[in-house]
Amino acid sequence: MVDIILNHRSIRKYKEKEIDGSILTQILEAGIRASNTGNMQAYSIIVTTQKDIKEKLWEVHFKQNMILQAPVILTFCADFNRFSKWCKLRKAEPAFDNFLSFFNAAIDALLVSQNVALASEENNLGICYLGTTIYNAEKIIEILHLPHGVVPVTTLVIGYPDENPGITDRLPLASVIHNEIYHEYTSEDIDQFYQEKDNSEFTKELLKINNKETLAQIFTDNRYKKKDNILFSKKFMEVIEKQGFMNNAD
Ligand SMILES: Cc1cc2nc3c(=O)[nH]c(=O)nc-3n(C[C@H](O)[C@H](O)[C@H](O)COP(=O)(O)O)c2cc1C
Repeated sequence: MVDIILNHRSIRKYKEKEIDGSILTQILEAGIRASNTGNMQAYSIIVTTQKDIKEKLWEVHFKQNMILQAPVILTFCADFNRFSKWCKLRKAEPAFDNFLSFFNAAIDALLVSQNVALASEENNLGICYLGTTIYNAEKIIEILHLPHGVVPVTTLVIGYPDENPGITDRLPLASVIHNEIYHEYTSEDIDQFYQEKDNSEFTKELLKINNKETLAQIFTDNRYKKKDNILFSKKFMEVIEKQGFMNNAD
């Protein structure tokens, strides 16, 4: 299992080959073994294999082509709809229409997704997460018919790899570990921890292509712009509210 984790890399090109139903079931069973809040399993997974639905998802995931190539798209949703229905049918009054419950449900859904990712990789399948799920959540809700109490939080594309990319870099372990208490970073720490990333051949190439002075500028000016961050934050907050998770008053 550790070997599989250490060899992880996202796959963005897929063969047309289908995933056998029994393999998919095994992967999903492994998914739902994940720890979850109070064993309420406040999540649902939408399995998309149909071409017409994939095409609709492709549109709202900013036309990322791997969606059309990969045989299976899984949308992981925070879901207190099912659990609340069970409560009501069992003479219990649910109180999961608040932000805390949304966050718990989102954590549950994300933990399931990572189990699914690892179980997929163990079966020689490739995966890629799609962060675009929360950028266009309101459209995904429409496409997948998600009811009140259900919010999509992430998506996994799964299939047989049609590329063999190298392992991507990570910061040194020491940069993300804090022994006992948080140790604030000095400028020297930052220089040391980011030295390899800042100066790699890959970064030099990126700087040329993007005509930027530093790698950080590519993140702030190109990939994750303030304007977009604010716009998509607002849109996602509206979705959380519309789906019934913002009744935070007493
Ligand atoms: C929450 C999340 C959202 C992501 N969204 C996308 C995406 O929309 N498109 C994409 O190509 N990769 C996406 N990725 C993959 C990351 O870019 C990738 O994990 C990261 O660059 C590290 O590379 P690696 O997974 O190959 O190690 C996402 C990953 C995560 C965890």
